[in-house]
Amino acid sequence: MSDFPVQIGLFGFGCVGQGFYRIFQEQQSEVQAQIRKIVVKNPNKERPIATGKFYFQAQDILNDPTIRLVVEAIDDAEAAYHIAKTALQSGKHVVSANKKMVALYGNELRALAHSQQRTFLYEAAVAGSIPILQLLQHYYRYDRIEWLRGIINGSTNFILSKMHSEGVTYEAALQEAQALGFAESDPTLDVEGFDAVYKLSILLYHAFGIEASPEQLLRQGIHHLDPLTTGYCTRKKYRIKLLAQAYERSDGSLTAFVLPALLPVQDPLASVEQEENAIELSLRYAHRQLLRGKGAGSTPTGAAVMADVARVLKGYIATGKVNIKRYFYEEEMLPLWVSGNSSARRVLQHFPFHELHAQISDAFGFAFEGYARYDQVRDFLQKHPQTGIFVAYHPQLTRQRVKQASTLLSV
Ligand SMILES: NC(=O)c1ccc[n+]([C@@H]2O[C@H](COP(=O)([O-])OP(=O)(O)OC[C@H]3O[C@@H](n4cnc5c(N)ncnc54)[C@H](OP(=O)(O)O)[C@@H]3O)[C@@H](O)[C@H]2O)c1
Repeated sequence: MSDFPVQIGLFGFGCVGQGFYRIFQEQQSEVQAQIRKIVVKNPNKERPIATGKFYFQAQDILNDPTIRLVVEAIDDAEAAYHIAKTALQSGKHVVSANKKMVALYGNELRALAHSQQRTFLYEAAVAGSIPILQLLQHYYRYDRIEWLRGIINGSTNFILSKMHSEGVTYEAALQEAQALGFAESDPTLDVEGFDAVYKLSILLYHAFGIEASPEQLLRQGIHHLDPLTTGYCTRKKYRIKLLAQAYERSDGSLTAFVLPALLPVQDPLASVEQEENAIELSLRYAHRQLLRGKGAGSTPTGAAVMADVARVLKGYIATGKVNIKRYFYEEEMLPLWVSGNSSARRVLQHFPFHELHAQISDAFGFAFEGYARYDQVRDFLQKHPQTGIFVAYHPQLTRQRVKQASTLLSV
């Protein structure tokens, strides 16, 4: 970039926008840039800073030829997409924090940035302050990722921690998360696993070169969880965590999903509590790596935005598609634990188990474990979103254990 200082246009002045603004002001002597305009939505809202920089029309930034870098930190994915697209088309660089926008439109926007020779970065969109995308793109580029798994949604992790440690209901834990600002007033995106699946689809691109749409991925959240189930798992020395996972099979194909998982307490991810995030990777050369840190919040996320802005200012242009081709294997057999109350009985009859282990306990109404096929579970859950049944990945389940169970249960 020439023409210093670079003029920045900032969209959004909420949690992330303000965190970024504060860091930018404190670090301004380190960068040759300045925030020229801030566009927000509501002209009547009181702002924490007095500045003549606030504007209310996207065009105020997008049509300003002096602005060469757009930072997008708004909470509306469709509006964010139009902002990012228009900005790139008019030759501006774009930094975004919006995972839904990147998950839905990332392929198109990356291609556009590439053709325009502009940079499009979005580190803050995945796992907040953990610099996972930079690491995948640069540090791990010459390694081979065998698998990754992560806790990448802070709200659900907070709720699960509360349910395990205090035995409270899902509703009570959710209310506390909302009161503390860890969950939105409409928590659907978080608790039903959408947020995690958006982030997973972004990770798949950077880790494995796979362009997967979020709907392609098997997804189940934690909203059907009850304290009986968390109590049972606590007694059995398991923790339930909402995990995003992807692993390579021996033939080079890949499986990826977001499911609650039963983790033994000694598992390194079992101790990741409250709103914290963590991502664990297994690499061919570097072996295991565990990254852990704040997955959300004003300055942790603002710091990730700031790091992207600094890269743009240094002249970084994204290097296009990750050069590894892998494909999804949709028939993978997954080890699952499934529970539900008696009202879920009829739905459970149709759950696509292929190998089924005996009933564990009738405390829940029903609880089974066994192997089920990825695509069939995904289609089942998409068709029956309100089942009231809780589906969890059960990594310790062995085929032998399933075989030993002599009875196939009829529910
Ligand atoms: N919060 C986190 O910890 C976190 C972490 C990682 C990623 N993110 C992502 O970062 C983005 C921002 O999240 P946030 O938590 O900062 O949201 P937020 O606190 O709700 O703030 C949203 C901001 O966007 C502005 N806005 C909304 N629609 C707009 C539009 N069409 N044009 C201009 N401004 C608009 C709002 O304006 P008003 O002020 O006028 O209402 C507000 O300033 C989201 O995509 C979120 O998923 C957030």
